[in-house]
Amino acid sequence: MPQLTILHYPDPRLHRVAAPVAAVDERIRRLVADMLETMYAAEGVGLAATQVDVHERVIVMDTSESRDRPLVLINPEIVRRGEELVVTEEGCLSVPAIYDKVTRHAQVTVRALNRDGDTFEMDAEGLTAVCVQHEMDHLVGKVFVEYLSALKRDRIRTRLLKRAREAQKAA
Ligand code: NI
Repeated sequence: MPQLTILHYPDPRLHRVAAPVAAVDERIRRLVADMLETMYAAEGVGLAATQVDVHERVIVMDTSESRDRPLVLINPEIVRRGEELVVTEEGCLSVPAIYDKVTRHAQVTVRALNRDGDTFEMDAEGLTAVCVQHEMDHLVGKVFVEYLSALKRDRIRTRLLKRAREAQKAA
């Protein structure tokens, strides 16, 4: 199974809105397998299809310490949000080595299809709840840096563009 290339901010493809998955078929299962491999290799806790330039509503996550509890969310929908808010230092595989505080709901209930195409509902809290909201943002073309001030966002954009240029020169 191949690892996929992760798009880096400010790539405009990160802002595309993903379409619902029409059928959970072999193609989607292969995508899920490749996304999991890519996420584990990059040591991330979550990855949205948008980040690998596939614009369909697919998310993979693993927020376990042991890194052996993959979670697959296809066509996810948040059906309940708790009132309590929580501020977490977030990072993103598409915004490497940048971390900043984002406010999210502390608890969410999400409904999705699993990789067999069956509907399930899950109550998420803590890191898992934050991760669900972060990854679902990706599916609507939103990167976490958009919650930061314009000044911070511009600095991040400049830093990542510079880094990309240097990487290109080194290659
Ligand atoms: Ni992300």
